[in-house]
Amino acid sequence: MNTPRTLGTPLSPTATKVMLLGSGELGKEVIIALQRLGVEVIAVDRYPNAPGHQVAHRAHVINMTDGAALEALIAQEKPDLVVPEIEAIATDKLAELELAGKITCIPTARAAQLTMNREGIRRLAAETLGLATSPYRFASSLEELEAGAAAVGFPCVVKPVMSSSGKGQSKVDSAADVKAAWDYAAAGSRVDSGRVIVEGFIDFDYEITLLTVRSLGADGKVVTQFCDPIGHVQVQGDYVESWQPCRMDPVALERARDIAAKVTGDLGGLGLFGVELFVKDDMVWFSEVSPRPHDTGMVTMATQVQSEFELHAKAILGLPVNVAMKAPGASAVIYGQHEAQGIAFEGVADALRVPNSDIRLFGKPESFARRRMGVALATADDVETARVNAKLAASKVKPVVVK
Ligand SMILES: Nc1ncnc2c1ncn2[C@@H]1O[C@H](COP(=O)(O)OP(=O)(O)OP(=O)(O)O)[C@@H](O)[C@H]1O
Ligand SMILES: [Mg+2]
Repeated sequence: MNTPRTLGTPLSPTATKVMLLGSGELGKEVIIALQRLGVEVIAVDRYPNAPGHQVAHRAHVINMTDGAALEALIAQEKPDLVVPEIEAIATDKLAELELAGKITCIPTARAAQLTMNREGIRRLAAETLGLATSPYRFASSLEELEAGAAAVGFPCVVKPVMSSSGKGQSKVDSAADVKAAWDYAAAGSRVDSGRVIVEGFIDFDYEITLLTVRSLGADGKVVTQFCDPIGHVQVQGDYVESWQPCRMDPVALERARDIAAKVTGDLGGLGLFGVELFVKDDMVWFSEVSPRPHDTGMVTMATQVQSEFELHAKAILGLPVNVAMKAPGASAVIYGQHEAQGIAFEGVADALRVPNSDIRLFGKPESFARRRMGVALATADDVETARVNAKLAASKVKPVVVK
């Protein structure tokens, strides 16, 4: 496609139909952005009443790693665009359907395939594109992992090749700890492929997400634009707070953009990408990339003229985007703190009394202690104040179990 998509009327024969594969908090916001353009949205997830299900025209519950189930649902709904929102999908099936001309996958089926497995994206970035990354080895047995860890050196980080949000990931300080990391990775992998990556530990000063958008210009050619860098803090591989803009050395920023342009240029297609980078002085390492909105980018709901979700929605439809910022700001995660169904949230009013703050509650039917149930947002004249206020607002929200 090199012209903008004509938008029809939802629930009529002219409808422009988009199917979201994965309907969590990020998908929910993409759906809301699409709804505002009169797009007919079909939300798919593996469990009922997922956040995105609650704001879509239709909701389906299927096992998205089941290629036959995915194909049947696509045949039934006939979406104009298929938009993966999570990694755990039968991406080989998407590639097959794309090749047969049966679907348009965002950004491309190949991007979804490469990024669902750390091996695919790491080999592309380091070996094909020559980008700076941590030193790494892949291993399919404890013996291979021991050799790999020795090769990249200690400390190092062991991760299942298929996992996200830090699951199964551990830092290893010495050879004696390698076995524990291997066992932990096997338990935390999405599919027990028995394969891990071991990466040399990068002693970075800070890490960023560089949101990068590929959209169509007036001449029908793809334009690549960068949002202001987002700084974030991760605890056990899961994001707890983020802020924008993240102050950066100008040389490092230039390098970050260069890396992001190369990797998104190779993955291709239209849409927004979250490029994760480690920074020390003016040195920048590529870590990984999401070919879709990024959790740390939720801050853009407060800071940008168009949030990352609106940018994604517009870009995939072939529409122009605006990546400008509105104000410095921050986000802080609200965790469930309890293992229960149908929890309630006290203190929302107190949270909203924090200056220039806002709250999103995702509406997830089930809470876990470390499940992300909502996020607090804040803007301010400077990022430091915004970070304090976002964390303050998040701390005022108290998840409670209703007896
Ligand atoms: N080689 C490394 N050196 C130093 N820190 C690392 C390294 N690899 C990962 N980390 C830390 O762990 C975090 C999570 O790692 P990574 O992004 O690879 O995992 P993930 O499971 O894909 O997480 P998510 O899905 O939340 O992005 C990173 O953001 C970084 O803080
Ligand atoms: Mg990551």
